Amino acid sequence: MKVFSGSSNKPLAEKVARNLNLKLSELEIHTFPDGEKRIQIKENLVEQDAVLIESTNPPVNLNYMELFLIADTIKGNGAKNLTLVCPYLGYQRQDHVFREGEGVTFKTMVKLIESVGVDKLITFDLHTIKIPEFFKIPVLHLSALPLFAAKIRELSKGIGIASSIDKRQTSNDTGSQTQNVILVSPDMGGIRKVKELSKLLFGVPFAVINKNRDLQTGKIKLTGIEGDVRGKKAIVLDDMISTGKTVAEAAILLRENGAMEVYVFATHAVFSKGAHELLQKSPIEKIYVTDTIDVPKEKYFAKLEVISILDLISKELE
Ligand code: R5P
Repeated sequence: MKVFSGSSNKPLAEKVARNLNLKLSELEIHTFPDGEKRIQIKENLVEQDAVLIESTNPPVNLNYMELFLIADTIKGNGAKNLTLVCPYLGYQRQDHVFREGEGVTFKTMVKLIESVGVDKLITFDLHTIKIPEFFKIPVLHLSALPLFAAKIRELSKGIGIASSIDKRQTSNDTGSQTQNVILVSPDMGGIRKVKELSKLLFGVPFAVINKNRDLQTGKIKLTGIEGDVRGKKAIVLDDMISTGKTVAEAAILLRENGAMEVYVFATHAVFSKGAHELLQKSPIEKIYVTDTIDVPKEKYFAKLEVISILDLISKELE
């Protein structure tokens, strides 16, 4: 098997290759002065299985274009099967027409991914469970939730979560021991994931925030919380953090409503411009993300911790 990496998440690709006792296969990506790219593969791929690891985080259009060019070159060089590991799959937000006249841009991306010869897609924490239905090729939809559940249990000593969760597991306690923790979905769309996480944590209760987004400007407004967070340690779960406004404003609202502390778990650290500063200043104690997207050094901040999806990917490629 040959493993290739695009330029969006080389650190993760290198770790995956190492975990499989392989080296990344040689690939040259040359950018001409006008921005066009030339891709050259320096290995014999005829009848080989190939894997391409490339996330489509910002700069999303450049990373998507690079993905198409590399995938097409891999197939053009005779690879038998191409598995695309795209831990963060961009464009999912536009998965239907919100307002008359709009295009379903995610559908365009799907057509392009399939047209360059990708045979199978492995990806993480999709925006909705309907996303795989867009594809004709098989889609393996993995989740960081088991990693988050393990982290929350491990954290427990520090913030009093694990003890309550363990207690609940062993004695079926539904009383005071568990009442200090609450999972929170920052919008209605996230409830399904929060319920899954709750199951992994033996039924920790959850609340949901009402969030509206202005379709024209993209601005969000949090209007209230369904559930009682008073005196509790709130764990907000989201699929991604882009501007950081959703989780930062959720934390403010939770604290205003009496939550003692707020922690955030989100799979994809998109971190658009200014997000890291906003998150560091927010009333969030700690923010856990994964490495589906490579967080560059300049976007690291004290409250951030990155949990790796490495083992989950390696297991699927072995
Ligand atoms: C929304 O539906 C998503 O689940 C995220 O909550 C959202 O995309 C986060 O964006 P931002 O960080 O810009 O508020």
